Amino acid sequence: MQSERDAKDRRLDEYRVPVDDHGMTTDQGVTVDDTDNSLKAGTRGPTLMEDFHFREKMTRFDHERIPERVVHARGSGAYGIFELYEPLGDLTSAAFLNDTSVKTPTFVRFSTVQGSRGSADTVRDVRGFATKFYTTQGNFDIVGNNFPVFFIQDGVKFPDFVHAVKPEPHNEIPQGQSAHDTFWDFVQLQPESLHMVMWLMSDRAIPRSYRMMQGFGVHTFRLVNASGQGTFVKWHWRPVLGTYSLVWDEVLRIQGNDPDFNRRDLWESIERGAGPEYELCVQLVPESREHDFDFDLLDATKIIPEELVPLRPIGKMTLNRNPQNFFAETEQVAFHTANVVPGIDFSNDPMLQARNFSYLDTQLLRLGGPNFTQIPINRPINEVRNDQRDGFHQHQIHESRTSYSPNSISDSRPQVRDGYRHYQEKVEGAKIRTRSPSFADHYSQATLFWNSMAGWEKRHIVAAFLFELGHVERGHIKQGVLTHLGKIHPDLGAEVAAGLGLPAPGGGPVHTNTSPALSMTGQPPGVATR
Ligand code: HEM
Repeated sequence: MQSERDAKDRRLDEYRVPVDDHGMTTDQGVTVDDTDNSLKAGTRGPTLMEDFHFREKMTRFDHERIPERVVHARGSGAYGIFELYEPLGDLTSAAFLNDTSVKTPTFVRFSTVQGSRGSADTVRDVRGFATKFYTTQGNFDIVGNNFPVFFIQDGVKFPDFVHAVKPEPHNEIPQGQSAHDTFWDFVQLQPESLHMVMWLMSDRAIPRSYRMMQGFGVHTFRLVNASGQGTFVKWHWRPVLGTYSLVWDEVLRIQGNDPDFNRRDLWESIERGAGPEYELCVQLVPESREHDFDFDLLDATKIIPEELVPLRPIGKMTLNRNPQNFFAETEQVAFHTANVVPGIDFSNDPMLQARNFSYLDTQLLRLGGPNFTQIPINRPINEVRNDQRDGFHQHQIHESRTSYSPNSISDSRPQVRDGYRHYQEKVEGAKIRTRSPSFADHYSQATLFWNSMAGWEKRHIVAAFLFELGHVERGHIKQGVLTHLGKIHPDLGAEVAAGLGLPAPGGGPVHTNTSPALSMTGQPPGVATR
């Protein structure tokens, strides 16, 4: 049993606090024999300032909450292991992608995006699927979602997008779903969001279980082999159980009955030894083929169709252990797109470049300063050695008399030769605040998505638009969205317009063949998807 415990679990042992079977103490180690009565002047008198136990207990309680994540606040985590199918030395020098005998420990956090920590699980929303691999060369994170594309093309628009998608500022409504004017205003003004909006209106936005949900790294990343040769890569997680969704009627009932539906399902499946499994697959594009597509590999609103570049399964992750303490592990875990190991590198996708700044920046605030990497869940399994010092909550006692480099006082560090080397991409061009013309097409892949749907899936999408736009107050916003829907497909535009009692976009005839079962308030009963 002992030998089966992974390296991360053994590392966590250093920090575990067993169930208390001794007497209570203060944080300073002083024994406490009464925590039920405050110190008073007389039996019925006022509480005294010198009651240091009361003050410490209350202060610690007052400070228990930390800022929730600015997005993806509601989440559930689990530990697992990743096993590689075959060595990938021709593609990458990453050690964990070269040795099939190694079981790499992982921690995964699934999340919704819009709602607060206390919101319901089964809302119509994007789901986060973030994985930390504790490799022998340091931590590698795939900070992905359950959709393969994103709403925007340039990270500088992320604050705008999130301000539009979050509950409206005056009344904090709606909490946990996207039906409101600011969100749809953003959509009508930023047509780059349309492809992702089609995914959001589909049943993919209401997954039945985290065990039955895909994950995508979204951006194009880069693998680099030992000779320095690069290959573009997209990461995909494929659930072994298959991909299934709820339908809207189920969502409405489940939200009332069990707001923890997805969280409970994940926890219970792992407790009964049936934790989820996901295959890690890659889409690989040689650098020589970078410009062979009619979209840009650096545009996060585009997929690479699998007909053009098939998925190659490279390994499997099994989630097999629940955290012992939600706050210490799931709440304090910090994922970051810039957490890469040798052999894995970035592309110039402007969304990825922005994320590589944003995560560390937000975690400095959320987790109280630069030493959050010393929190047990965030520590790599290999040793950390550098000249970074001090700061809030420093846990390490550095014995060295120097913390600068180079120095001639302390014993010098051995020369390391296998450190992280950035891919030597040649970059040239004028400094310019712009969007590449190769990012200009906002409709083709939204149309591709619509055309790939079965009839009943299209009906669910139309019903979702009717529900959402039915909650929009301003007519010009509905009209703006309808115009885009008509460009994605005339049938989509016409059916949504008819359901809303508005003229079809583009001045065409109003379609009258919308399913009578569809309504503004819900979708027809149906079966789970896929
Ligand atoms: C969480 C920023 C796009 C997936 C977060 C957080 C921030 C953020 C600030 C909170 C992190 C924390 O407090 O620890 C951004 C920015 C983006 C962007 C600036 C665009 C420029 C994306 C995209 C994806 C994604 C495209 C998916 C591919 C996630 C996930 C989490 C997250 C899964 C939750 C991580 C966790 O479980 O702790 N993002 N994000 N984000 N983001 Fe993004």
